[in-house]
Amino acid sequence: MCRTQIGFVHDWVNAITFVGSNFQKGKMIKSRIQELKSEAQAFAITDPDSLEQFRLRFLAKKGELNELFKLFKEVPNEEKREVGQLINDLKGDLQTIFEEKQAQMESSEDGQSDVADPSLPGPNIPLGSRHPLSLVLNRMTEIFEKMGFSISEGPEIEDDWHNFSALNFPPNHPARDMQDTFFIEDEISLRTHTSSVQVRVMEREKVPIRTISPGRVYRNEAISARSNSFFHQIEGLYIDEGVSFADLKQTLFLFVQELFGPDTKVRFRPSYFPFTEPSAEMDIYLGTETEGDRRLTKGSGWLEILGCGMVDVNVLENCGIDSKKYSGFAFGMGIERIAMFRFGVKDLRTFFDNDKRFLEQFSGVNL
Ligand code: PHE
Repeated sequence: MCRTQIGFVHDWVNAITFVGSNFQKGKMIKSRIQELKSEAQAFAITDPDSLEQFRLRFLAKKGELNELFKLFKEVPNEEKREVGQLINDLKGDLQTIFEEKQAQMESSEDGQSDVADPSLPGPNIPLGSRHPLSLVLNRMTEIFEKMGFSISEGPEIEDDWHNFSALNFPPNHPARDMQDTFFIEDEISLRTHTSSVQVRVMEREKVPIRTISPGRVYRNEAISARSNSFFHQIEGLYIDEGVSFADLKQTLFLFVQELFGPDTKVRFRPSYFPFTEPSAEMDIYLGTETEGDRRLTKGSGWLEILGCGMVDVNVLENCGIDSKKYSGFAFGMGIERIAMFRFGVKDLRTFFDNDKRFLEQFSGVNL
């Protein structure tokens, strides 16, 4: 019994000692953590060598941190939570120091090796593509140039004389209503067609004249899939002695064969323009086989692509050309309309949206 008691006391004393030493270990660890933290912060990491020294000292398998984790086992349970948290915080701090210094060194290494490496492949430079309207326009001008036509350009802001009066639109004549005009001032407007350029050429140049005038024109129309307030035209003019309607037909026939293929069928329908007499419209035959062709030709198979005619004698005289000696033909067409047909584009507005996904489809297209 006594032995038992002694034994009991002994155990108890042991227990006290045990608890007492562990208690001291808890305290010791806490101050050790504090020390290590200050040491780590003061550690001079200046180059890869000292960074490695830091790692070995604190973070490596045999480093201070792992020593702490070993000691941690001996911390009394009631303190484990607090001390555990402190060790984890220290671990976080040490890792942050290490990673930040390491990153700094890597970026300065990059800085040092900032010398161009000629063996690396060059960066990809994205290639642009021609706008579909430019593709069609370029092809058209190419065809007419081959036939001996020159290219003329003129202003987009035009006076009444060049846009209307010289072209045989008398003042207040209902023909002026054919085109809804954007007026800037009373007698000044945005040109409604590039026929105005042809007037300028006739006034300026000597006969024979054989020219085409491509350019942007403006009409005050409701914007929809089929019409816009501006679009592009190409107009042609040929004046010489003895130019006839047969020449007009043959020129246009050659043009569509070049643009749409040798089997293209055309027809001329009588029409009216103030500046040509007689006047006509030319259609090309698409047929009615596909849904698209039926829609485009409103079921008839024929698609109107241009207006044309023999230059009215009044226009020749207005521009100082002797109408007894000379005659000529003129024609004009919209570029969007032809581009829509040629590329199967259903909405004219897509030409002007500048959507890269639309435009990129035309890279490498050769007409
Ligand atoms: N100027 C006309 C238009 O804009 C087209 C045309 C030109 C018609 C020449 C006949 C002759 O619609």
